[in-house]
Amino acid sequence: MLTQGTVFALLGAVSSVAADVYTVPSQPNANGEPFDGFVSYSIEFASFPDFAGNKSAPNTFSYNLINNLGALSGSKPYIRVGGNTQDYALYNASLKTSLVGIVDPSRSPDYPTTIHIGPSYFESYSTWPGVKFSHGLNLGLGANRSEGWQTLVDTVPLACKALSQGNLYTWEYGNEPDLFSTSAQGPVRPSTWNESTYAWQWLNGTAEIKKQIQKHCPALSLFGEPKFMAPSYAGTGNHLKAPLAFQDGLDKNKDIQFFSTHNYISGATSPGVTLQGTLMNHNKTVSSIQGHLPEYNAIFPTPEAQKATPLIFGECNSLYNQGRPGLSNTFGAALWGIDFNLYAASVGFKRVHMHMGTNYRYQAWQPVETDLASRGTKAPYYGNIAVSATLGASNLLPVSITNIPLADAYEAAYAAHYTSPLLNGHLARITVLNMRGYNTTVDGQGLDPLPNPPPRSSQSYTFAVSGVRNGELVGIQRLLANGSDAITGITFDGWSYNYELALGKPVRLHNVTVGETARVKNGQVTVQVPDSSAVVLNFPLL
Ligand SMILES: *[C@@H]1O[C@H](CO)[C@@H](O)[C@H](O)[C@H]1NC(C)=O
Ligand SMILES: *[C@@H]1O[C@H](CO)[C@@H](O)[C@H](O)[C@H]1NC(C)=O
Ligand SMILES: *[C@@H]1O[C@H](CO)[C@@H](O)[C@H](O)[C@H]1NC(C)=O
Ligand SMILES: *[C@@H]1O[C@H](CO)[C@@H](O)[C@H](O)[C@H]1NC(C)=O
Ligand SMILES: *[C@@H]1O[C@H](CO)[C@@H](O)[C@H](O)[C@H]1NC(C)=O
Ligand SMILES: *[C@@H]1O[C@H](CO)[C@@H](O)[C@H](O)[C@H]1NC(C)=O
Ligand SMILES: *[C@@H]1O[C@H](CO)[C@@H](O)[C@H](O)[C@H]1NC(C)=O
Ligand SMILES: *[C@@H]1O[C@H](CO)[C@@H](O)[C@H](O)[C@H]1NC(C)=O
Ligand SMILES: *[C@@H]1O[C@H](CO)[C@@H](O)[C@H](O)[C@H]1NC(C)=O
Repeated sequence: MLTQGTVFALLGAVSSVAADVYTVPSQPNANGEPFDGFVSYSIEFASFPDFAGNKSAPNTFSYNLINNLGALSGSKPYIRVGGNTQDYALYNASLKTSLVGIVDPSRSPDYPTTIHIGPSYFESYSTWPGVKFSHGLNLGLGANRSEGWQTLVDTVPLACKALSQGNLYTWEYGNEPDLFSTSAQGPVRPSTWNESTYAWQWLNGTAEIKKQIQKHCPALSLFGEPKFMAPSYAGTGNHLKAPLAFQDGLDKNKDIQFFSTHNYISGATSPGVTLQGTLMNHNKTVSSIQGHLPEYNAIFPTPEAQKATPLIFGECNSLYNQGRPGLSNTFGAALWGIDFNLYAASVGFKRVHMHMGTNYRYQAWQPVETDLASRGTKAPYYGNIAVSATLGASNLLPVSITNIPLADAYEAAYAAHYTSPLLNGHLARITVLNMRGYNTTVDGQGLDPLPNPPPRSSQSYTFAVSGVRNGELVGIQRLLANGSDAITGITFDGWSYNYELALGKPVRLHNVTVGETARVKNGQVTVQVPDSSAVVLNFPLL
């Protein structure tokens, strides 16, 4: 039996084999400075009322989890409200409830594909003070049938009023239009759908959005507003290519504020998908993220152009089709999420919106109790916490993220250097992921504990840290769980954010060791990292 207490006993027992010394760059990575609220979320349009609640019943559990991330990184996550269901939503002014959705299992078992929203849908934008939102408008049906166009005309005024409380992030018109003519949930465009038609329809619809905002929310029409995230493609290999849409004038009005792209590492039912091979695998994460850079660099070739239209993941997560139990909901997926977020930051992504919806297997939390899932904080949330801890209070002391290449595909490390001139590129933190799988439950399902789990190995990592004085103490925070197959019992630096303890507010557990340190010797620092766990090393601020 291996408890979190015995992890530390194990650490003491590991014999230190002469290992590689990894050199941490002495300067920040010019490309790797993320925005505030880097760890952000994308909430499925149809699930937004579940996540946020409404005026009479705000979802305070969700709000607590959002605030935890805000407290660690200095600003709250930004929320994109969108996804497949934004392109099914039609407006019905007589509807008394926020949303009526009909699930057609042959199209998707997880979300409705026939959707009506009522005026009270927009109450959900008022329940989380201090959070900024993007609202996803319907292009799928908006340029397909008259009800869809009428929905645009009728809902822009409601959305802009709801987003007039200092809570507007940006606008979005259409989700994954590169799949409109091929969608597995049923095409909404003929096979002749191409980049020119898309650009034309997008320009036509966004002109209407601007007109309505100017009329109903003039304060949101000043200083070149409103602006958009686009093209929100599902990927780079589908029917529509982003560079062609831009050549066809998508950004001719210079109102695309963020170049938003989407990513999933693989699919929930794709053959051969495993935790170790697909998610807890730095190589896979690197190649998946790298695949987005050529089109962005082609459309925005200069540093000035990239500064004007930064690159973000507007929607992403582990496995598309809402994830798979035993993979997307495990602690292993939480470790993957850290690698994914930090690698994205290191190559120039400025914000990452992790997608979720009610009952989705990859969600960071389940906001309400349903027949299919219990309300609660899920494993991936703890990965988001560790990313926020790596970035620190980046609103006050911004950092830049650098990937430190390690020897093996099942491990990864990142350095965070301060970028403000006063702090002169000083090393702030190093985060190390040991993603070698380790199971403690039957069949790795996270449910029934194995009576005799195998011994847990550990790796020793040594980093050469120039600019940190010998003898300095380095604070160690650990992200721990019983194994990569755990779906609960996760802590970061001894903190639990579980629903059942304090509705998602942080609770310090007394059965997890905290306060561990390491000392810098000969310009190096060494840390032991058990398989399937992560550490954040905190260097003193001069
Ligand atoms: C630690 O304490 C928490 C909260 O009381 C409990 O749920 C958990 O099972 C404990 N963990 C171990 C390894 O004993
Ligand atoms: C709109 O909602 C009202 C109230 O539920 C309902 O009676 C009406 O049939 C709905 N209209 C459409 C077009 O769905
Ligand atoms: C607000 O949320 C509560 C709890 O889910 C629900 O009972 C109520 O109908 C909602 N109100 C509206 C106007 O949708
Ligand atoms: C609307 O979508 C249907 C497929 O559902 C397609 O056959 C039709 O051509 C589309 N209409 C327009 C105007 O794009
Ligand atoms: C898209 O289709 C239209 C009409 O068929 C055609 O005129 C246009 O050149 C096509 N655009 C692209 C980028 O293929
Ligand atoms: C934009 O599209 C709508 C709906 O399809 C149409 O009624 C309108 O004429 C279009 N606007 C322009 C400027 O073509
Ligand atoms: C990971 O990538 C490195 C460098 O490209 C390669 O040498 C190694 O074999 C890869 N490992 C796995 C497990 O794919
Ligand atoms: C954990 O369990 C899963 C599912 O049975 C299995 O595929 C995987 O190889 C196991 N991992 C380890 C490290 O034993
Ligand atoms: C973790 O392992 C310990 C020791 O085997 C066990 O008591 C505890 O229930 C496990 N925690 C979870 C969440 O499975």
